[in-house]
Amino acid sequence: SRVYLNGRFLPLAEACVPVLDRGFLFGDGIYEVIPAYGGHLFRLTAHLDRLDASLAAVRIGNPHDRATWRALLQELVATAGPGDHSVYLQVTRGADVKRDHAFPAADVKPTVFAMTHPLRAPEPARLETGASARLMADTRWARCDIKAITLLPNVLLRQAALDAGDDEAILVRDGAVLEGSASSLFIVADGMLSTPPKGPALLPGVTRDLVLELAQRHGLPWAERAISETDLRRADEIWLTSSTREVMAVTRLDGQPVGDGRPGPVWRRMAEWYQDCKA
Ligand code: PDD
Repeated sequence: SRVYLNGRFLPLAEACVPVLDRGFLFGDGIYEVIPAYGGHLFRLTAHLDRLDASLAAVRIGNPHDRATWRALLQELVATAGPGDHSVYLQVTRGADVKRDHAFPAADVKPTVFAMTHPLRAPEPARLETGASARLMADTRWARCDIKAITLLPNVLLRQAALDAGDDEAILVRDGAVLEGSASSLFIVADGMLSTPPKGPALLPGVTRDLVLELAQRHGLPWAERAISETDLRRADEIWLTSSTREVMAVTRLDGQPVGDGRPGPVWRRMAEWYQDCKA
């Protein structure tokens, strides 16, 4: 298995980036995570659209056109071998000649890096147990819609959740629950599926959009609306979604059972619809 760095495929151990890279010094870059099921990059167009949006938001010129991105990611997945993989890609503003907050000279080229990891579907037993989550104050910045590599708050929040014996932090800001530290959030209440609306406070999840598409297709009532802490605590079901964890039921919130403490019937249907469209 090889990684991609600035136009070349090479062994991971040989992939080196200069210490003056702005990704290293400033976290000045953006990333994507794309699942590849049996060699097929899933929802690639949506991920490349979001990549464009992130790059535009941080004013890094896209180093590749669509066809080049598709070809290089496809080649990377092919070299990863059979089975499912997740592709991580990141673009930083590049390596400057000195450390300076201001953008470097125009001839500094973005650093493009991509690698794959084996993607293991959650164990059936794990899916049936569901995840435990903890509500935490959102300490991130005001542009959480950008998929920036600057993830220190997310890292600290996730670790705080793990230290408390939980799987994920659910983030609350100004009374509204927004998303997990690395996942989108859904609730089911009175048969209605809800997720917070897109905006600067959360990442526009590709899996989130797919879940809404599937709800629409199968006639499950859904809404994009603000979700309060009270809504969350009263919900019949809570789900977290991401490209690497698919649709995961949350069965414990702050140590209390969600619903009857087991993944709910609406989750079960959605998880099945998701598997069907993966295939
Ligand atoms: N994280 N919200 C946040 C803050 C995320 O980091 C992610 C994904 C999501 C879900 O987005 P998507 O469905 O497009 O994967 C929501 C990735 C998987 C990561 O950082 O590893």
